[in-house]
Amino acid sequence: MPFDTAISALNYDEYAFAQKFSAKELVRLLPNDNIASVIDIGAGTGFVALEAKKRFPYAKLTLLDRSRGMLRIAKSKIPDATIINTDAETFAFAIQNFDMAIANLSVQWFKDFEAFLKKILEHAKYFAFSIPLNDSFADYMDIFNGIKMPRINLYTHREILHIVRSNAEIVTAKQFIVTKTYPNAIEATRHFRNIGATSPINTDTQSKISAILKSHKAPITLNYDMFLCVTRQAY
Ligand SMILES: C[S@@+](CC[C@H](N)C(=O)[O-])C[C@H]1O[C@@H](n2cnc3c(N)ncnc32)[C@H](O)[C@@H]1O
Repeated sequence: MPFDTAISALNYDEYAFAQKFSAKELVRLLPNDNIASVIDIGAGTGFVALEAKKRFPYAKLTLLDRSRGMLRIAKSKIPDATIINTDAETFAFAIQNFDMAIANLSVQWFKDFEAFLKKILEHAKYFAFSIPLNDSFADYMDIFNGIKMPRINLYTHREILHIVRSNAEIVTAKQFIVTKTYPNAIEATRHFRNIGATSPINTDTQSKISAILKSHKAPITLNYDMFLCVTRQAY
């Protein structure tokens, strides 16, 4: 399930309740170090970059994202930021180095998070990220019981800890759950569409999904089971 880079970035901010909350929490976890340069990986519309700017007002900010539409909005919020419109997984950072790299709810879209973790820690003193764990969206997924739904592969807490500990030193880590209740399944689905989580589905599955969505009139709670972690290179 790829992130849909063609999403209407204009609707993103209205629907991204978990991303906003997590951005503040992630920046709160960052160490009190001398941070002169920050790169936001999968910067989107700039939630975490704005928080980082408040925390490190004199740091040079770089925003990297593969979606031009999202970056356009981020740039309008932070005009002095440097913009890199590229895929973080294939981008060669070359001689660029940063005191801090941050990724808020973006690395779950990566094909190989572990390879990225190794790469970014060669170019950043710290790498802080937030990621939803695999118990996220449980009630929503339950309503599609019996249908093979497209889903990104989310890690368990144990799996993500294993990956991080095998490649980095953990400075600090935190877990919490953010929820929002939508009046029905159609509204909950709108949340996913507007944050870019859409996927090509065959017409047969699509019609089964549509029928379930139309018949599900009860409120539904979306849960983001979040794992936040600040890492640095292990010596
Ligand atoms: C859910 S949004 C989160 C955006 C932002 N960090 C926030 O807190 O609102 C995920 C973002 O990651 C970006 N993204 C996903 N995979 C990427 C990749 N491989 N390289 C660069 N950006 C990527 C998407 O384009 C999208 O803007």
